[in-house]
Amino acid sequence: MNIKNSLIASALMAIACISCKNDKTENWMDHSVDVASQQLLATAEKMDGTGVLPRSIWTVYPLDFVERQTERDRKTFADSLVLPADSLVNKMHTINIYDWTSGFFPGSLWYAYELTGNEDLRKYAASYTNMLAPLRDFKRTHDIGFMVNCSFGNALRLAPNDTIQPILVSTADNLCSRFDERIGCIRSWDFGRWNFPVIIDNMMNLDLLFNAWHLTGNKKYYDIAIKHAETTMKHHFRKDFTSFHVVSYNNDGTVEEQCTHQGKNDASAWARGQAWAVYGYTRCYRESKDKKFLDQAINVANMIMSRVKTEDCIPYWDYDAPVTDETPRDASAAAVTASAFLELCSYAPDGKKYSDYAEKILRSLSSESYLAKPGENMGFVLMHSTGSLPNDSEIDTPLNYADYYYLEALVRYKELKK
Ligand code: GLY
Repeated sequence: MNIKNSLIASALMAIACISCKNDKTENWMDHSVDVASQQLLATAEKMDGTGVLPRSIWTVYPLDFVERQTERDRKTFADSLVLPADSLVNKMHTINIYDWTSGFFPGSLWYAYELTGNEDLRKYAASYTNMLAPLRDFKRTHDIGFMVNCSFGNALRLAPNDTIQPILVSTADNLCSRFDERIGCIRSWDFGRWNFPVIIDNMMNLDLLFNAWHLTGNKKYYDIAIKHAETTMKHHFRKDFTSFHVVSYNNDGTVEEQCTHQGKNDASAWARGQAWAVYGYTRCYRESKDKKFLDQAINVANMIMSRVKTEDCIPYWDYDAPVTDETPRDASAAAVTASAFLELCSYAPDGKKYSDYAEKILRSLSSESYLAKPGENMGFVLMHSTGSLPNDSEIDTPLNYADYYYLEALVRYKELKK
């Protein structure tokens, strides 16, 4: 072959490789979107008119297992076990609209609709979202952000109508009513031994406040969100950028206690908590363009990448969990991390390392190790998440929020690839 012909042949091979790479990308994406849509549509149809929503599959593990995983005596967690009745084990865990996870199923339907344009998905997304309208008057949880923003927030983006904005704004007002000026935080829970508990998860509820600010122009929502993020940055993080799960405050704003509820122990890095943190600070940077939030998100992201101990980057349920064959993973933490990284990559100076890591997570979640086979997994999309291991609750099981953030990450990944 002469030089000219050999150059042409190399060029043709390079083009073939690029298109073959693109085909492969499309293959795993297309397959994931296809499976997710089938699962969600079947579940939506099955549960239509029941008045309940899918959350997970109930599990129960022996207490010796919980002791081995937490490396704690069962006396330290025996009071907070969440064990279902025997008849419920391995059955679908369904919820009413007041459960903290009620927004995720409607939200997943919205994302699947966005990815496919399938009208049945849109119809079900609207109908399951409308089920949540009574949340407008619900004040008893900080999780109202998750509940309303993931459902009505996506509805406003994809199928706007006049009824959505008032719901988002009044629930944002209810969330603000949980803010304490002296402490500089929104109160998370109304249960437990604590004076004023704030959990790292609460960073996710700020999304609702940012959206209410955009909708109304009223800066009070922005100011409360930013103050909450600043106070959390001060008291929730250790020097290595891992986060406590729970920080409780005294009324004068001093710290009462730093501890865990869902992690291995008070000093550990509970996997989903770290994911909520990187996601939350990335969003704060999007809204404020304040570099301290970007730095925080980058530091947490780097910590996550350095602490992960699994080949496929789907973390064990806690970054300090023992590395054993029986240690469950948390696909939900991976999905939240992937989604966060796919936004962070567009702000961080060294962005590609975050999008590469997110792609690795998404490819793992889209493999047969985590992605359900159509018709299996009780209609959920992903397998192998962990809700609250020390409470013996939802261990190595599907979770509706794993599905939601996986689909959100797929939407973000598709946008990025464009
Ligand atoms: N917000 C509760 C959890 O992440 O499990």
